[in-house]
Amino acid sequence: MTYAGDNLKVLITKEEIDTATDLLGKEISKIYKGKPLLLVGILSGSFIFLADLCRAIDIPCEIAFMKASSYGSGKSSSGRVDITLDLSADIKNYHVIIVEDIIDTGNTLKAITAVLKERDPLSLKVVTLLDKPSRRETDFSADRSLFSIPDLFVVGCGLDFDGRYRNLPYIAILE
Ligand code: IMP
Ligand code: MG
Repeated sequence: MTYAGDNLKVLITKEEIDTATDLLGKEISKIYKGKPLLLVGILSGSFIFLADLCRAIDIPCEIAFMKASSYGSGKSSSGRVDITLDLSADIKNYHVIIVEDIIDTGNTLKAITAVLKERDPLSLKVVTLLDKPSRRETDFSADRSLFSIPDLFVVGCGLDFDGRYRNLPYIAILE
């Protein structure tokens, strides 16, 4: 599964991810029962977590996507965030949950939540598979983060290094 020259070390197993995701799905199902729910996945990294999470939710919900770019490829992001793909429908009549793969500096989600808040949804929450709190450049925090990790570059479950390793079924440290 590795590209030549790379070394992967498992940090979070598929079983751990599945268990935590199922639990979150159950929680969301309880909290939002009878309410109009929209999950907003942030592309590209969230596609696997979103796919798993939405199937762990057993109440009706809708799914949409946004994409943001924070300039530059490789292992570090920059402060400026552009929304490169936006929602096509109004969110006024929905409880919105933003679904993200990882919160690092916090810049991406700070920008996206600011934009969505202005559109006046019934409520707005953020869930993330991973969180690197030690890397924060803003005061942003998720409402729910499944795994808090140290300042390490990780891949798998949708997270990539220059497009690679998104399909790993676990989270690994790229050494
Ligand atoms: P933020 O704006 O710095 O919070 O960046 C969030 C985005 O940076 C994530 O959605 C990822 O796409 C990317 N990112 C941050 N840390 C990692 C990592 O360890 N592996 C892969 N992508 C990462
Ligand atoms: Mg991302």
